[in-house]
Amino acid sequence: MTTTLIRNTSQVVTMASGGRPKRGRALADPGVIERGEVLVRDGQIVAVGPDAGRGIAADRSINAEGGVVLPGFVDPHTHLVFAGSRPAEWEARLVQGRSFADFIKTGGGAMDTVRATRAAPDDELEELILLRLARMASWGVTTAEVKSGYGLSVAEELRHLRVLQRAGTRSPIRVVPTALPAHFPPLDPGTTKAAYLDEIVESMVPAVADGGLATTFDIFRDEAAYDDADVRRLAEACRAAGLGIRLHADQLGDDGGAALAVEVGALSADHLGHISPAGVAAMAASDTIAVLIPGSLFFVPGEKAAPTRDLIDAGVAIAISTDYTPGTSPIASMPLAIALACVLLRISVAEAIAGATINAAFAVGLGDLVGSLEPGKQADLQVIEARDYREVPYRFGENLVRRVMVAGETVLERGQVGPL
Ligand code: NIG
Ligand code: FE
Repeated sequence: MTTTLIRNTSQVVTMASGGRPKRGRALADPGVIERGEVLVRDGQIVAVGPDAGRGIAADRSINAEGGVVLPGFVDPHTHLVFAGSRPAEWEARLVQGRSFADFIKTGGGAMDTVRATRAAPDDELEELILLRLARMASWGVTTAEVKSGYGLSVAEELRHLRVLQRAGTRSPIRVVPTALPAHFPPLDPGTTKAAYLDEIVESMVPAVADGGLATTFDIFRDEAAYDDADVRRLAEACRAAGLGIRLHADQLGDDGGAALAVEVGALSADHLGHISPAGVAAMAASDTIAVLIPGSLFFVPGEKAAPTRDLIDAGVAIAISTDYTPGTSPIASMPLAIALACVLLRISVAEAIAGATINAAFAVGLGDLVGSLEPGKQADLQVIEARDYREVPYRFGENLVRRVMVAGETVLERGQVGPL
């Protein structure tokens, strides 16, 4: 048995939630313990409090040097399995006013990423994935949901998920893989959408379940992608195979995606810029987490903000993600996503960080394991160079992370906490 005491903090931000996602007023309470300590035994948190280490002869002591200790960030929505990049498309959207939807319809945009990713050999793709996971860890992330979705054929999607699985075994942080073959209609001429969905349901869902290649399937519910019947069919196949479902919903228009996500028991409904009042009410009465993506709001001209205060007031459990996609939000930094959430969605720092920790943990199905600093949870945490947790978004663009721990082991250490 190894015990580790993390001491000499200015704040421990627990995000304690009593085993459930935070909603409403609970979102605004980060559970700060001033000058708290965290006691870890064999990778698990055993005590958190002002004197958690009293009377304990810990094997190791970590001096936080007056910094703030937070749960490691959980990024609940990334598309980081891709090769290539699309700066010219981004610039055309800004300068020529071309829309994201336009690129979907004309076959550029994401299809460029599909072609580049298909052309990337396994080793190259694996290294890209690892590089991106390491970069996320450097910004305090300890768990990342990672989607496939740039294969767009069953064979390629399975290849990407297998490469991701290999990368996951070498990753410094936890990886929660998601299969997203139904990201866009199939690329190859001669394959209809109906035939592609048949193949996904009949052969890919069982292959993913058998190979442990993902825990959920995601699907893009949009008029240019998949409809309600497609979503219901995929959700049913996933349920039968013991897999979960999540949706890209109401991103480009109000498609009733949020209510549909609730109907099919989705773990999360993501994006939600165009969610209707009925969608808000449906989500409030459900366990489906609303994953918000402020990065795309910042990055894509004309993108609509999810009505975040309405969501919170109605009692919806919100989470925050980077999206990490070459299309609409190519960012690896959760602190940046948190800053953008505060400024563009007008939420408090506590609400944004709850969305990036405990609620995100529930969105990826690991709410009982990570996302808060509570006894019984894994010791996934970060020490940052600050005296107040609100500095995370306040000093946006600066990397404050000094130490990252996953299950009590340090995976990143960046020298001493400065004089501040
Ligand atoms: O999360 N809805 C679509 N998927 C991605 C972007 C896809 C792309 O353009 O590469 C998103 O916004
Ligand atoms: Fe996305």
